[in-house]
Amino acid sequence: MMYKTIIRPVLFLINPETVHHLVSNILKCMFMLPGVRNIVKNIFTYKDTNLETHLFGITFPNKVGLAAGFDKRADLYNHISAFGFGHIEIGTVNPLPQPGNPKPRLFRIIKDKALINRMGFNNPGVDVFVENLKKNKPKVIIGGNIGKNTDTPNDTALQDYLICFEKLYEWVDYFVINVSCPNIAGMNKLQEKDELVKILYALAQVNNLKSKRKPMLVKISPDLSEHQLDELLEIVHSTNIDGIIATNTTTTRDTLTIQPRLIEKIGKGGLSGKPLRQKSTEVIRYLYKKSEGKIPIIATGGIMNEADAIEKIHAGASLVQIYTGFIYEGPFLVKRINKALFKSVLAR
Ligand SMILES: Cc1cc2nc3c(=O)[nH]c(=O)nc-3n(C[C@H](O)[C@H](O)[C@H](O)COP(=O)(O)O)c2cc1C
Repeated sequence: MMYKTIIRPVLFLINPETVHHLVSNILKCMFMLPGVRNIVKNIFTYKDTNLETHLFGITFPNKVGLAAGFDKRADLYNHISAFGFGHIEIGTVNPLPQPGNPKPRLFRIIKDKALINRMGFNNPGVDVFVENLKKNKPKVIIGGNIGKNTDTPNDTALQDYLICFEKLYEWVDYFVINVSCPNIAGMNKLQEKDELVKILYALAQVNNLKSKRKPMLVKISPDLSEHQLDELLEIVHSTNIDGIIATNTTTTRDTLTIQPRLIEKIGKGGLSGKPLRQKSTEVIRYLYKKSEGKIPIIATGGIMNEADAIEKIHAGASLVQIYTGFIYEGPFLVKRINKALFKSVLAR
């Protein structure tokens, strides 16, 4: 309650990217004090062994994760995990550091409980990720979300994915091959059949040569056609990819209720939050039905409350991830969702 009545109105007076850095720094300072992490963990975590989920060889302590794009420097995962998350996806990370797109590049649409972002993979590069993971041993399951540098042409994108995979292999629990960022010019083309087969097949080959292969998922756009989703399922099947993260942000704007001139003023970017919910759920439902439930799906897209998370599980997801909901609803959302999932889905 306090988050929505006091904290959020104050934070929302400040530019969203500045707030992100401010809150990150406050958390880092707070957590330096002995005992603080445990106190936060005790307040925010809902623990029950019935929430444990076994998926592609990993036991997740609960079903709620933090979606990619929040911990873009791999320096927050242990702090954020104290808010009750069962897993944290770091990145998207690229081989080389890059600043991302010019600011402003993150916009709140409060009326619609949404965000539009065109961050453009601002990240310090995979070597910094490895250093951070070495320095701060993860206290939570970590997904490594990997992508190509903006300047890397699609023809040589595979090399970027391979570099990130090799460097992070020892340090993350599972991988996400991100081919669906709408803010990197041409990246969506990597979701087309030939490109996707090339990337996933090569990564699967390298993975299979390891003494212990790491689960590998592909993250897709909500804007794919049914034909593209059918092709994706074939590719996932033939390359032995472990699962799908559905979905990234959408480039569509038709579910926004604000005035068109305001939408135009914001400009390009990926839309997340409430207006994405239904589209994202439809993709999950389609994939689950078509694959006869044989391919694990992690749901992300517009989960703003308990009912939205339950909807994703009913549509066929095994786990859920939140981002925009965490911003609008506050840190108790994780606990609320876990409690509700326990009651409605798991305790039946
Ligand atoms: C500011 C911002 C940055 C994001 N950056 C990434 C990213 O780097 N990689 C990625 O795979 N997804 C990224 N996403 C997408 C989220 O991981 C998530 O898929 C999407 O926002 C839908 O979930 P939501 O409606 O709960 O926010 C980003 C989202 C936001 C809002």
